[in-house]
Amino acid sequence: MVLDKQGLGGISSELYEYVQAHNVLGAELEGVRRETEGLQNSFWQVAPEQAVFMGQLAELIDARKVLEVGTYTGLSALAIAAHLPEDGKLVACDIDFGPFEQVGRKYANVMGVEHKLDLREGPALDTMRQEIDNKQDGTYDMLFIDGAKNEYPAYYQLGKQLLRTKGLMIVDNMFGMGGQVVDHDVNDPRIEGIRSAAAMMRDDRQAGLIRLSMLRESDGIALVTKLAA
Ligand SMILES: C[S@@+](CC[C@H](N)C(=O)[O-])C[C@H]1O[C@@H](n2cnc3c(N)ncnc32)[C@H](O)[C@@H]1O
Repeated sequence: MVLDKQGLGGISSELYEYVQAHNVLGAELEGVRRETEGLQNSFWQVAPEQAVFMGQLAELIDARKVLEVGTYTGLSALAIAAHLPEDGKLVACDIDFGPFEQVGRKYANVMGVEHKLDLREGPALDTMRQEIDNKQDGTYDMLFIDGAKNEYPAYYQLGKQLLRTKGLMIVDNMFGMGGQVVDHDVNDPRIEGIRSAAAMMRDDRQAGLIRLSMLRESDGIALVTKLAA
């Protein structure tokens, strides 16, 4: 999610432009990004450098099976799907695939990744629980969490079950839409959800169950690697 391109993460807009100029999305993802900019919730889409980064991470870990919570118009999903093998799968969870059908679908087609996408419309928690009921726990190489912020603790717990050992979960908006996680006057359920997921991660890290990096990219991202089943 891009909140403030001016001085984002404490860097000048000139330096941020430099960063963007060296994170090449390619024509199709750039098309998604540009078309989404005309929509009401365009700030929802991940920053271009984050899309590039996540695609590269998927390739680095040889991801074949990915689950995304929160697809919107499809920038993050397509950036990852482009780096999956031909028989790879990205299970995309969203309560409304209207924005994806409006923007992302045609680019998925041009990119030749439509067959890798498995769109599951409905509450992401239901889809994640169904996957566990269908014995898909421990089978996902990568998850990207960018859905309802008040549900982050549940996404995190179910996500850990779905991940294989050494699998990677990337969690967006760890700063709470502009740093609200450290504003103690804010007790909005979305911010409480992010704080609570962060506390779970820290406890799991201390218990040796995961590796954890929290990075200053965009609105803060957490990289979680599962260490044990
Ligand atoms: C921040 S946007 C995702 C942006 C997307 N990752 C991108 O890069 O363009 C959050 C998405 O989560 C979806 N969402 C909200 N609540 C949800 C829920 N309970 N289950 C599944 N999806 C949900 C919204 O419809 C929205 O498309």
